[in-house]
Amino acid sequence: TTFLAAAFAALGLAANAADLGGAHLMVGSDTTYPPMETVDPATGQIVGFDVDVVNAICERINCTAEFVTTAWDGIFGALQQGEFDLVASGVSITDERKQTMDFTEAYLVVSQAVLMQVEDEGMTIDDIKASGRKLAAQTATTNADLAEELVGRDNVALYDTFVGAVVALQNGDVAGVIIDGTSAAAYEKEFAGDLIIGITGLQADPLGLVFRKGDENVAAFNEGLAAIQADGTLDALVAKYWTT
Ligand code: ARG
Repeated sequence: TTFLAAAFAALGLAANAADLGGAHLMVGSDTTYPPMETVDPATGQIVGFDVDVVNAICERINCTAEFVTTAWDGIFGALQQGEFDLVASGVSITDERKQTMDFTEAYLVVSQAVLMQVEDEGMTIDDIKASGRKLAAQTATTNADLAEELVGRDNVALYDTFVGAVVALQNGDVAGVIIDGTSAAAYEKEFAGDLIIGITGLQADPLGLVFRKGDENVAAFNEGLAAIQADGTLDALVAKYWTT
């Protein structure tokens, strides 16, 4: 085996490819977040970039994944309680979250953006602050944190889901929605002519898959992730969801 390990190493291959033995993993996800995870109205199935990424990784490390819809608020508590095995929900890797949970390496880096009504194009953060209108975000997200930093707590409106925040924007209740650029792009496309990405290139967030602290599956998932990065599978998925 020493010889084999050396031979594999020389070829740049892993001698011990991770194998989860066909494990069936439950995946918690707040499925109100296009295009990362949504429920397809026609089929009732949970679909999206995160679903495709987890399935692609599972293919490499021999597991199957079953997504279950969970409210964002409480999603990490539910993970800790063992309601599912991991969370895949466009989750930003933060130092604070890393204190209580383990993350894979980043599978995507997204910069935050502000979605606004087309007629407000050109509006800056300072304009929003001066207008007395609010900047909306989903509760307990890195987007909500950044919103507070940018316009101050009093000028932030929090919603249970980004869907709710976007509805508020369409109704004119808020000036903008601060959201990961990946989802901003999906909303801009869905509501072309009404909504646009007016401010872009804000804080960059690395996204990871989330496990309970000490979960050995993290190493296997990192191996699977490295494999789909190396062979272009991940790039193909990015191209599928975000055609530039
Ligand atoms: N990336 C942001 C965060 O981790 C927002 C994620 C929201 N995801 C969702 N499925 N609603 O805080």
